[in-house]
Amino acid sequence: MEFNRLRYLRKKKLLRELLQETRLSVKDFVLPLFVIEGKNKKEEIFSMPGVFRFSIDNLMKEVGEAKKVGIVSVLIFGIPNRKDDMGSPAYNENGIVPNAVKKIRQEFPDVVIMTDVCLCSYTIHGHCGILKAAAGRRPMVGSKQKNIDHKLSAIKYQPEIDNDKTIEILAKIALSHAVAGADIVAPSAMMDGQVSAIRKVLDKNGFSDVLIMGYSAKYASSFYGPFREASDSAPQFGDRKSYQMDYHNLKEALREVEADIKEGADIVMVKPALAYLDVIKAVKESAMVDNIPIAAYNVSGEYSMIKAASEKGWLDEKNAVLEILTSIKRAGADIIITYWAKEAARWLKS
Ligand code: PBG
Repeated sequence: MEFNRLRYLRKKKLLRELLQETRLSVKDFVLPLFVIEGKNKKEEIFSMPGVFRFSIDNLMKEVGEAKKVGIVSVLIFGIPNRKDDMGSPAYNENGIVPNAVKKIRQEFPDVVIMTDVCLCSYTIHGHCGILKAAAGRRPMVGSKQKNIDHKLSAIKYQPEIDNDKTIEILAKIALSHAVAGADIVAPSAMMDGQVSAIRKVLDKNGFSDVLIMGYSAKYASSFYGPFREASDSAPQFGDRKSYQMDYHNLKEALREVEADIKEGADIVMVKPALAYLDVIKAVKESAMVDNIPIAAYNVSGEYSMIKAASEKGWLDEKNAVLEILTSIKRAGADIIITYWAKEAARWLKS
């Protein structure tokens, strides 16, 4: 008979394993962590079963557990007690993220610490940048803050973000994380010039060895919904479409990646991952990024939908997750940021 007997390649388990073209490893994973103020706190996020917000003391236990199963990289998100219209709590050197970073650095010196650099959890309006009207104004506090809160929620227009003022603030935030001991800062605000603004400030202050992971091709996605509950960062009016990318576009993603590389990014990211595997692959294959590591963010909504289906018994969580994470790697990701990092590490061992 004249046909290829490809099924012989799949004859038995060990043979299949020998012939695997993509191998997932615990070393691929980065675990995102949400940190809050206070003591002995561990709050489960309603829309992300199994994911928690930790106060710094409990965060240490979590990092310890992650390390035990082989996860050595974490990405820190801070949820502050106080917000203002300029997002100034984000660059307080004794703010929530710098304090968490210092503590991890102390207790786990070899862990790779990445930090998210953005304003959305720190601004009253929940946008990733400061608004044109607010630019240059002093932060509002106390009852004034409530007034503004109220006013903003009544306004239904799209935000006008002050790009260039925002990148100055992002650079300050990144510097405060670097001072605390971060290895990698990851700007996620999708402002133009954010990578170069951060690179400049880091270099000027003696932190040339701190890497930048650009959230380069970050799409305006409905899959961030659960994260916004987790980090209390939903925009109070309008949406993020004037700065995050339009999901109809791929070539524009390559331009964003190219721009970040030119500005000095050490790692570029595609986010979300699952509905954007073609983007990951295109970034991987595009000549200009030949040798730059690519991260993919398996985001909150991608986590929640599998969790919900598996809680209902509609699919097997372990098998579905390993299939998804492998597909992200097969598409070309070198680094996978995933809320399943710990479980996946255990599943890969068993
Ligand atoms: C902050 C930020 C977001 C995520 C990571 N950093 C939310 C957003 O842009 O609205 C999403 C992560 C996730 O959904 O898991 N800008």
